[in-house]
Order: sequence, then structure tokens, then C-alpha cells
Amino acid sequence: MEQTPVKKQRILSGIQPTGTPTLGNYIGAMRNWKLLEDEYDCLYMIADLHTITVRQEPAKLRAQSMQLLALLLAIGLDPEKNVLFFQSHVPQHAQMSWVLNCFTYMGEMSRMTQFKDKSAKHADNINCGLFTYPVLMASDILLYQANLVPVGQDQTQHLEICRDIAARVNGLYGNVFTIPEGYYSKVGTRVRSLQDPKRKMSKSDPEDCFISILDTPDAIRRKYRRAVTDSEAEIRYDPENKPGVSNLLSILSALTAEPIDALTASMAGKGYGDLKSTVAEATVETLAPIQARFAQYMNDKAYLESVYRRGAEQAGRLAERTLQKCMKKIGFVAR
Ligand code: TRP
Repeated sequence: MEQTPVKKQRILSGIQPTGTPTLGNYIGAMRNWKLLEDEYDCLYMIADLHTITVRQEPAKLRAQSMQLLALLLAIGLDPEKNVLFFQSHVPQHAQMSWVLNCFTYMGEMSRMTQFKDKSAKHADNINCGLFTYPVLMASDILLYQANLVPVGQDQTQHLEICRDIAARVNGLYGNVFTIPEGYYSKVGTRVRSLQDPKRKMSKSDPEDCFISILDTPDAIRRKYRRAVTDSEAEIRYDPENKPGVSNLLSILSALTAEPIDALTASMAGKGYGDLKSTVAEATVETLAPIQARFAQYMNDKAYLESVYRRGAEQAGRLAERTLQKCMKKIGFVAR
């Protein structure tokens, strides 16, 4: 019996080109993307339009955008199977954002915790883009009729508002948008700060708190050596009472695919110094091939260009279809 091909579910995620992703981003999110490429129809967008909600240095923004593209390739994402593109290359994002701004309430935006945090942090530049940032993100998702959106904890509120906006437009005009859901990977290691292990590892913290995917082996070793532990001398997994040591154990477990029990058993009687050097070597080993491929891609500008051009074309086609459909339903005269 012939099987009817099932339409793949679509996944869209975005990542801002501000700073190099951390080991936490890699373990918690990026390395899992590779595993999705056969089962799902995946789009990964470099969210450059989002970055200018805070001031960016032009040359740095450009360099970091290209680096992020090279990094997505270096972690193994196949551009034949995934659509990789720059948000700013697909003008439909800005167009859809205007439309959806008119279906979003000021009250909803002012309740966003990230807006409150960021406007406290950048009090001299509380611009309208920062305020309506979640609307742009909703546009990113809805333009592609995405079914699933892999997001971190800090983005769940934005995804919720995206669903609300989509449902509102659908309620007024009929079936315009697919209502997306969050995609939370089963292997969800939450990597924490090396200096303050109660908090998540973040690239906006001071250097010693995080490992960047592009850190040199020396920097990696040094940062682990300085990582906060505790005053005991027992390697035991106990996130409540021993957050530093437990963080190192879960990083090691994520990198080696060894269960934590097995790791603690094999390290019985050893000191924190041993644990730190073991995690450091596992990290160096994991990142070395990624860094080597990254360097190759960065040396091949023509290839990078061909990838993002094609990505923009593919994404643009899908986005245009949704934009036209939405604008027609609202009552704009067709071009
Ligand atoms: N706002 C997200 C972040 O800062 C990035 C992002 C932009 C995104 N558009 C998106 C994530 C669409 C998922 C889907 O992390």
C-alpha cells in the first residue's frame, strides 16, 4: 500500500547576532537543531533586526552576523536541509510587523518582563522598537506558519503573546495564521554561570561566567579553573547545596553522554581540580572540530554569501505568501 507523504511540521527559531553563543546555548539549544533537520522543515533566522533595539556598532554587527552564519554551518546544520537566513534580507518581516502592531495593545507590551528589564538597563534609550520587539518576533514566527518554535525560558512570554496576536487576527479575519507552540527538547541541560551557578550561563555576564563556543583551549581551562565550587571536597550531584559542582557535572554529562551517576562513581575520591580539568578537556574536545570548521567557513566568503542568498530567497517566498494572504483578508487592494 502506498503511503501518502505526511507534511512535515515546520520549525522556526531565531538567534540574535550579539556576541558569540555560549557553551550553554550550544548544549541547551543549538546542537539539538542538527537532530531536527530530517524530521522537520526547519528555518533558522539570524535576528539582526532585533539587535538594533539596543545600540550596535555597525562594523561589529556586520561581523557578528557573518560569524553567526558560519557558526550555524560549523555546528553541522546542512543548508540543503535547513533554511538559514538573515532577518533583514526578508523585508516581509518589517511589513508584517507593521500590520501586527495594529493588532497588539500597548498594555500587553508594557507587561512584558523583558521590556521592563531592558528599559531599566538601557534607561537612556527606551525606543519604540524595544517596546514592540515581541511584535517583530511574532511576525518572524507567523510569516512561516511555524508549528513549533524552540525557545529558551526567557522567550516563553514572547511566544505566548505571539499566540494571542495570531488568535486575535484569526478571530477577526478567519484562518490566517497557524498557532505555534513551543518546542522544548527532551535533553534539556540548563548550563549555569561558572561564577554564579544559581543563574543561567549568559553571554551578557562578565567573561569569567561563561564559555564561548569560540574560546581558545587556554581560555576554557582558565575559566573552569576559576569556576566557583564549595568548601567541601566531595564530588556529588546536589544542585541545591552544591550548585557549582553540580553544574560542572551536568556539563560533563552533556558533553560525554555519560550519566551523572556513572561520572560521580568514576570520580570518587578525586578532588575538584580533577573534575575541573576533566570538564575542561571534554569542552576543548567538543569545541575543537566546530572551531576548525568555523575557521574554514569564515575563509570562504563566497560560500557564505551563496548560503544566505539562497536562504533569503527561500524564506522570502514563504513569507510573501503569508503576507499577501494576511493583507488581502484585512482589505488591502492587491498589487
Ligand atoms: N527574541 C529571540 C531572542 O532574543 C530571538 C528571536 C527573534 C526569535 N525572532 C525569533 C526566537 C523567532 C524564536 C523565534 O532570543
